[in-house]
Amino acid sequence: MKILVTGGAGYIGTHTCIELVNAGHQPVVVDNFCNSFPEAIARVETITGKKIKSYKADIRDRAALDKIFGENKFDFVIHFAGLKAVGESCSKPLEYYDNNIYGTLVLLEAMRDAGCKSIVFSSSATVYGTPERLPLDETCRVGGTTNPYGTSKLYQEQILRDLYAADDGWKIVILRYFNPVGAHESGLIGEDPQGIPNNLTPYIGRVITGRIKEISVYGNDYDTPDGTGVRDYIHVVDLAKGHVAAVEKIKDNGVYTYNLGTGNGYSVLDVIRSFEKACGHPLPYKFAPRRPGDVDANYADAGKAKLELGWEATLSLDDMCKSVCVWMQKNPNGFKN
Ligand code: NAD
Ligand code: UFG
Repeated sequence: MKILVTGGAGYIGTHTCIELVNAGHQPVVVDNFCNSFPEAIARVETITGKKIKSYKADIRDRAALDKIFGENKFDFVIHFAGLKAVGESCSKPLEYYDNNIYGTLVLLEAMRDAGCKSIVFSSSATVYGTPERLPLDETCRVGGTTNPYGTSKLYQEQILRDLYAADDGWKIVILRYFNPVGAHESGLIGEDPQGIPNNLTPYIGRVITGRIKEISVYGNDYDTPDGTGVRDYIHVVDLAKGHVAAVEKIKDNGVYTYNLGTGNGYSVLDVIRSFEKACGHPLPYKFAPRRPGDVDANYADAGKAKLELGWEATLSLDDMCKSVCVWMQKNPNGFKN
């Protein structure tokens, strides 16, 4: 299949392009590089040995999208493009709603007019807000999001459902990611956040490479076995394969929603211990106050994706941490080497 990958130069997009090529598909990337580098696509080409067609364009630019759809006949769009920093979304809500919601509207209009009505959308476990119950399955209540980023995901899901209600010619797959971490085994691509990272694993990566002194563990009085926050960390390569399964397995029009997680919850201290094993030395950390908006625990019931997509995560937390160490050691400055 020929597949347009919006945001295909980003962290999850690059890993997905590799898995698409490995499965015999032809990804075409559109990215404005606001949070990525063209070098990332060059590395995907090195890893796959295949040329990846790419366009530098903003998905809010309708004329640019029309040109892309005019030059290519796509079977599917995988839609990653968007802004994703939770904290930043609180200080820049208009920018987040503009990029994420308006960007999705422009993309959907361009798809409709080009006659391509099949889309996989990157959603997030953040739409569950404070979990109604654990593990989280797809029937759990959504809403109660605590930041504009999460709210933008919730709205985008609703827009997609409304679209299908109005026109059953669409095939819409909503994938709710849990916590993507890890890097490709080659060590050539990985997560490369700009500035001081917000998320746990890139933050630990900076401690490993000596750019940050110690890890702050946000809260040790949560209702979890060791008091630190519990999350469902999923290897980005497993996550990428979930997208391949979605485009290959869903045959009929409709709206389909799947959790992509492992079903295992690990605490912040579990993650630090796994990184210590991977890098071979202790990592300095201190306990700090809880981070506003964080929940105690969050992990998936990923049974629906296994049943309907034939997909399940296979890589362990140790695999994730090892791969991050290799990526950080080979690329201490990310893609700016
Ligand atoms: P990323 O920032 O690495 O990738 C997003 C890509 O989209 C970047 O290359 C960026 O340059 C591009 N982009 C942003 N706005 C654009 C626009 N208007 N036009 C064209 N390109 C644009 O992020 P990621 O971690 O790969 O996330 C991909 C998707 O998955 C996002 O929608 C994100 O919200 C979602 N998601 C990520 C996580 C996570 O923890 N990484 C968790 C849940 C959901
Ligand atoms: N944490 C620390 N120290 C840090 C960073 C994080 O202790 O420096 C803790 C957090 O308190 C939390 C856990 O590590 O308990 C994971 O935090 P992350 O920031 O890595 O991830 P979140 O679960 O907060 O959120 C991430 C993405 C969201 C996405 C969500 C999906 O940031 O975009 O996963 O569940 F929606």
